[in-house]
Amino acid sequence: MIIAIDGTTASGKGTIAKRLAAKYALPHMDTGCLYRATAVAALKQGIALNDAAGLQQIAMNLDLSKFRDSDLRTGEAGKAASQVAVIPEVRQALFELQRSFATQAGGALLDGRDIGTVIAPDADVKLWVDANVEQRGYRRWKELVGFEPDVTLEEVIKQLRIRDERDQSRKDAPAAIASDAVLIDTTDLTIDAAVEKAIAAVEAVL
Ligand code: C5P
Repeated sequence: MIIAIDGTTASGKGTIAKRLAAKYALPHMDTGCLYRATAVAALKQGIALNDAAGLQQIAMNLDLSKFRDSDLRTGEAGKAASQVAVIPEVRQALFELQRSFATQAGGALLDGRDIGTVIAPDADVKLWVDANVEQRGYRRWKELVGFEPDVTLEEVIKQLRIRDERDQSRKDAPAAIASDAVLIDTTDLTIDAAVEKAIAAVEAVL
Protein backbone atom coordinates (compact mmCIF):
# COMPACT_ATOMS: atom_id res chain seq x y z
CA MET A 1 0.00 0.00 0.00
CA ILE A 2 1.25 3.48 -0.91
CA ILE A 3 -0.16 6.40 1.06
CA ALA A 4 0.44 9.94 -0.25
CA ILE A 5 -0.17 12.83 2.13
CA ASP A 6 0.11 16.31 0.69
CA GLY A 7 -0.98 19.65 1.97
CA THR A 8 -0.04 23.13 3.06
CA THR A 9 2.63 24.13 5.57
CA ALA A 10 1.62 23.60 9.22
CA SER A 11 -1.68 22.01 8.20
CA GLY A 12 -1.02 18.98 10.41
CA LYS A 13 0.03 16.70 7.56
CA GLY A 14 3.30 15.79 9.26
CA THR A 15 1.59 14.62 12.42
CA ILE A 16 -1.07 12.73 10.48
CA ALA A 17 1.70 11.12 8.41
CA LYS A 18 3.59 9.94 11.52
CA ARG A 19 0.47 8.52 13.14
CA LEU A 20 -0.70 6.68 10.00
CA ALA A 21 2.77 5.30 9.31
CA ALA A 22 2.87 3.88 12.84
CA LYS A 23 -0.65 2.47 12.65
CA TYR A 24 -0.10 0.68 9.33
CA ALA A 25 3.59 -0.12 10.01
CA LEU A 26 4.69 1.64 6.83
CA PRO A 27 8.12 3.21 6.30
CA HIS A 28 7.66 6.98 6.27
CA MET A 29 9.48 9.65 4.27
CA ASP A 30 8.97 13.32 5.17
CA THR A 31 9.94 14.69 1.75
CA GLY A 32 10.04 18.30 2.99
CA CYS A 33 13.24 17.28 4.82
CA LEU A 34 14.94 16.64 1.50
CA TYR A 35 14.29 20.19 0.32
CA ARG A 36 15.12 21.60 3.75
CA ALA A 37 18.43 19.70 3.87
CA THR A 38 19.35 20.81 0.35
CA ALA A 39 18.70 24.42 1.33
CA VAL A 40 20.53 24.20 4.67
CA ALA A 41 23.58 22.63 3.02
CA ALA A 42 23.58 25.36 0.35
CA LEU A 43 23.40 28.12 2.97
CA LYS A 44 26.29 26.50 4.87
CA GLN A 45 28.44 26.11 1.77
CA GLY A 46 27.68 29.61 0.47
CA ILE A 47 25.86 28.33 -2.59
CA ALA A 48 23.19 30.74 -3.86
CA LEU A 49 19.59 29.56 -3.58
CA ASN A 50 19.14 30.11 -7.33
CA ASP A 51 22.33 28.32 -8.42
CA ALA A 52 20.72 25.38 -10.22
CA ALA A 53 23.94 23.47 -10.94
CA GLY A 54 25.33 23.92 -7.42
CA LEU A 55 22.03 22.92 -5.80
CA GLN A 56 21.67 19.92 -8.09
CA GLN A 57 25.05 18.62 -6.90
CA ILE A 58 23.99 19.00 -3.27
CA ALA A 59 20.63 17.31 -3.89
CA MET A 60 22.22 14.40 -5.76
CA ASN A 61 24.64 13.68 -2.91
CA LEU A 62 22.32 14.37 0.00
CA ASP A 63 23.08 12.45 3.20
CA LEU A 64 20.27 13.16 5.66
CA SER A 65 22.20 11.63 8.57
CA LYS A 66 24.53 14.68 8.45
CA PHE A 67 21.74 17.07 9.51
CA ARG A 68 20.31 17.76 12.93
CA ASP A 69 16.51 17.84 12.95
CA SER A 70 16.56 21.16 14.85
CA ASP A 71 18.60 22.74 12.01
CA LEU A 72 16.07 21.59 9.43
CA ARG A 73 13.02 22.80 11.39
CA THR A 74 13.83 26.53 11.60
CA GLY A 75 11.75 29.16 9.81
CA GLU A 76 14.79 30.10 7.74
CA ALA A 77 15.25 26.50 6.57
CA GLY A 78 11.58 26.26 5.56
CA LYS A 79 11.73 29.49 3.61
CA ALA A 80 14.98 28.52 1.88
CA ALA A 81 13.53 25.05 1.14
CA SER A 82 10.62 26.57 -0.76
CA GLN A 83 13.12 28.64 -2.76
CA VAL A 84 15.25 25.67 -3.84
CA ALA A 85 12.06 23.63 -4.45
CA VAL A 86 11.15 25.79 -7.46
CA ILE A 87 14.30 24.64 -9.30
CA PRO A 88 13.56 21.75 -11.70
CA GLU A 89 17.13 20.34 -11.39
CA VAL A 90 16.65 20.03 -7.63
CA ARG A 91 13.27 18.31 -7.97
CA GLN A 92 14.70 15.97 -10.57
CA ALA A 93 17.72 15.12 -8.39
CA LEU A 94 15.39 14.22 -5.51
CA PHE A 95 12.84 12.35 -7.64
CA GLU A 96 14.47 8.88 -7.79
CA LEU A 97 15.11 8.82 -4.06
CA GLN A 98 11.41 9.48 -3.40
CA ARG A 99 10.12 7.24 -6.17
CA SER A 100 12.16 4.24 -5.06
CA PHE A 101 11.09 4.81 -1.46
CA ALA A 102 7.45 4.95 -2.59
CA THR A 103 7.66 1.74 -4.60
CA GLN A 104 9.61 -0.42 -2.11
CA ALA A 105 8.20 -3.86 -1.40
CA GLY A 106 5.71 -3.74 1.45
CA GLY A 107 4.51 -0.22 0.75
CA ALA A 108 5.33 3.22 2.04
CA LEU A 109 3.88 6.49 3.25
CA LEU A 110 5.25 9.80 2.00
CA ASP A 111 4.23 13.33 2.88
CA GLY A 112 4.95 16.50 0.94
CA ARG A 113 3.40 18.69 -1.73
CA ASP A 114 3.51 16.66 -4.95
CA ILE A 115 3.38 13.06 -3.75
CA GLY A 116 -0.12 12.29 -5.06
CA THR A 117 0.44 14.15 -8.32
CA VAL A 118 4.07 13.52 -9.32
CA ILE A 119 5.99 11.13 -7.05
CA ALA A 120 3.28 8.49 -6.59
CA PRO A 121 0.31 9.24 -8.85
CA ASP A 122 -0.42 5.51 -8.44
CA ALA A 123 -0.82 5.78 -4.63
CA ASP A 124 -3.66 3.75 -3.13
CA VAL A 125 -4.68 6.53 -0.77
CA LYS A 126 -4.17 10.25 -1.33
CA LEU A 127 -4.90 12.88 1.26
CA TRP A 128 -4.76 16.67 0.94
CA VAL A 129 -4.51 18.31 4.35
CA ASP A 130 -5.21 22.01 4.78
CA ALA A 131 -6.38 24.58 7.34
CA ASN A 132 -6.92 28.32 7.21
CA VAL A 133 -3.76 30.41 7.24
CA GLU A 134 -4.42 32.03 10.63
CA GLN A 135 -4.75 28.67 12.33
CA ARG A 136 -1.67 27.29 10.56
CA GLY A 137 0.25 30.43 11.48
CA TYR A 138 -0.65 30.03 15.11
CA ARG A 139 0.46 26.39 15.14
CA ARG A 140 3.77 27.16 13.41
CA TRP A 141 4.41 30.15 15.68
CA LYS A 142 3.97 27.95 18.76
CA GLU A 143 6.54 25.52 17.34
CA LEU A 144 9.07 28.19 16.37
CA VAL A 145 8.89 30.42 19.41
CA GLY A 146 10.69 27.79 21.53
CA PHE A 147 13.93 28.28 19.64
CA GLU A 148 13.27 31.66 17.95
CA PRO A 149 11.84 33.71 20.86
CA ASP A 150 11.64 36.98 18.84
CA VAL A 151 9.37 35.58 16.15
CA THR A 152 5.91 37.20 15.95
CA LEU A 153 2.63 35.58 14.91
CA GLU A 154 2.09 38.25 12.22
CA GLU A 155 5.47 37.52 10.67
CA VAL A 156 4.83 33.76 10.68
CA ILE A 157 1.46 34.24 8.92
CA LYS A 158 3.06 36.56 6.38
CA GLN A 159 5.79 34.01 5.64
CA LEU A 160 3.20 31.22 5.30
CA ARG A 161 1.28 33.22 2.71
CA ILE A 162 4.48 33.82 0.74
CA ARG A 163 5.39 30.12 0.99
CA ASP A 164 1.89 28.97 -0.08
CA GLU A 165 2.01 31.29 -3.07
CA ARG A 166 5.49 30.12 -4.10
CA ASP A 167 4.64 26.42 -3.68
CA GLN A 168 1.40 26.71 -5.64
CA SER A 169 2.61 28.89 -8.48
CA ARG A 170 5.90 27.21 -9.40
CA LYS A 171 5.96 25.68 -12.88
CA ASP A 172 7.50 22.34 -11.96
CA ALA A 173 5.36 20.08 -9.74
CA PRO A 174 3.40 22.82 -7.94
CA ALA A 175 1.71 21.91 -4.67
CA ALA A 176 -1.61 20.69 -6.00
CA ILE A 177 -4.62 18.65 -4.97
CA ALA A 178 -4.76 15.35 -6.87
CA SER A 179 -8.16 14.83 -8.48
CA ASP A 180 -8.63 11.63 -6.47
CA ALA A 181 -7.44 13.01 -3.11
CA VAL A 182 -9.55 13.02 0.04
CA LEU A 183 -9.60 16.53 1.54
CA ILE A 184 -9.08 17.00 5.26
CA ASP A 185 -9.55 20.51 6.65
CA THR A 186 -7.97 20.57 10.10
CA THR A 187 -8.89 24.18 11.00
CA ASP A 188 -11.39 23.16 13.66
CA LEU A 189 -10.18 19.62 14.28
CA THR A 190 -8.07 18.26 17.09
CA ILE A 191 -5.13 16.13 15.97
CA ASP A 192 -6.98 12.99 17.07
CA ALA A 193 -10.06 13.96 15.04
CA ALA A 194 -7.92 14.70 11.96
CA VAL A 195 -6.13 11.36 12.32
CA GLU A 196 -9.51 9.60 12.61
CA LYS A 197 -10.58 11.13 9.28
CA ALA A 198 -7.32 10.05 7.68
CA ILE A 199 -7.75 6.51 9.00
CA ALA A 200 -11.29 6.41 7.63
CA ALA A 201 -9.94 7.33 4.18
CA VAL A 202 -7.39 4.49 4.37
CA GLU A 203 -9.93 1.97 5.65
CA ALA A 204 -12.21 2.85 2.73
CA VAL A 205 -9.71 1.37 0.26
CA LEU A 206 -8.43 -1.58 2.34
O1 C5P B 1 6.72 20.29 4.35
P1 C5P B 1 7.83 21.25 4.67
O2 C5P B 1 7.39 22.53 5.28
O3 C5P B 1 8.95 20.61 5.42
O4 C5P B 1 8.45 21.61 3.23
C1 C5P B 1 9.38 22.66 3.05
C2 C5P B 1 9.30 23.16 1.62
O5 C5P B 1 9.79 22.13 0.75
C3 C5P B 1 7.89 23.45 1.12
O6 C5P B 1 7.49 24.79 1.37
C4 C5P B 1 7.99 23.18 -0.36
O7 C5P B 1 8.44 24.31 -1.06
C5 C5P B 1 9.07 22.13 -0.47
N1 C5P B 1 8.53 20.80 -0.74
C6 C5P B 1 8.23 20.49 -2.05
N2 C5P B 1 7.80 19.23 -2.38
C7 C5P B 1 7.64 18.31 -1.43
C8 C5P B 1 7.91 18.61 -0.08
C9 C5P B 1 8.35 19.88 0.24
O8 C5P B 1 8.35 21.33 -2.92
N3 C5P B 1 7.23 17.08 -1.79
